[in-house]
Amino acid sequence: MHDFLLQLPKVELHLHIEGSLEPELMFELAKRNGIELPYATVDEAKAAYEFDDLQGFLNLYFQGMNVLRTEQDFYDLAMDYFQRARREGVVHIDMHFDPQAHLQRGIPLEVVMAGLLRAKQEAEATLDLSVGMIMAFLRDRPAEEALGVLENAAPYWKFLDAIGLDSAERDNPPLKFQALFARAKELGLVRVAHAGEEGPAEYIAEALDLLDVQRIDHGVRCLESDSVVKRLRERQIVLTVCPLSNVSLKVVDNLRDHPLPQLLKENLKVTISSDDPAYFGGGLLTNHVACAEAFGWDMEIFRMLNRNAIEEAFVDESRRQELL
Ligand code: HPA
Ligand code: ZN
Repeated sequence: MHDFLLQLPKVELHLHIEGSLEPELMFELAKRNGIELPYATVDEAKAAYEFDDLQGFLNLYFQGMNVLRTEQDFYDLAMDYFQRARREGVVHIDMHFDPQAHLQRGIPLEVVMAGLLRAKQEAEATLDLSVGMIMAFLRDRPAEEALGVLENAAPYWKFLDAIGLDSAERDNPPLKFQALFARAKELGLVRVAHAGEEGPAEYIAEALDLLDVQRIDHGVRCLESDSVVKRLRERQIVLTVCPLSNVSLKVVDNLRDHPLPQLLKENLKVTISSDDPAYFGGGLLTNHVACAEAFGWDMEIFRMLNRNAIEEAFVDESRRQELL
């Protein structure tokens, strides 16, 4: 099964590029930029990656990305992940990135975009890997700030496939970002949002109703509402489920208790992604292998999940046909 999963050309729709920062590269960039880390060694950093919940993870995630300062740093971050993913048989990645997390630290949007776009172009030219760009907004920051960032990103709108919504979900309902998402829609940008990870099933309904999203990132808590499940099934809205992330952040106690089999039984359009592979124990292949072990899935299930991802990926039609 491992060989089959390695060979299967895999597509991931939910990946935070800042969450792909491996401790080894974090140390290298810290050295390059003269930054002191709160860890003495790579092993010490890895040992710190034990989380009680989403907020516990976010604290280390924002701390980790503090080593990213220059255009070259963002390029190295992305290329490091693209090369690793390609070795695991990944052929397309829709990549979230968090401009506000960098602006807050005084890193201009131009620096972030130049590094990430250069890596995307190079990956597409040399690695046979296509990359989609999702500009994500931090839901625990003010909505007005997010709107300002989207307006200031005008030179880059043409490079964006979508906007997204991430960070601390509880008490930050989709409603808070209705104006931002309306503006994105006006600009012709596709919308996606994290919902139903730590937040309730109602946030999924709100994201559909008020933000007009095309995808739900995570969405696992939809099972708490029959009406939300029904809507997701009827519209075949894709859920980008991240199994190892859900275990790490204690959304579920262990993988065997994960609702993935139930989501499939409900005929929902499920896909598998890695979310923040450097923090949650591995990339897309590791997530696939873990699911095979936990659920005893056969090849046909993995082919189906991957087909779902290809159908929803931010690629042009010729690339989609190539992937199918
Ligand atoms: N959830 C919300 N925000 C995030 C995540 C996540 O899993 N990863 C990075 N930002
Ligand atoms: Zn995520």
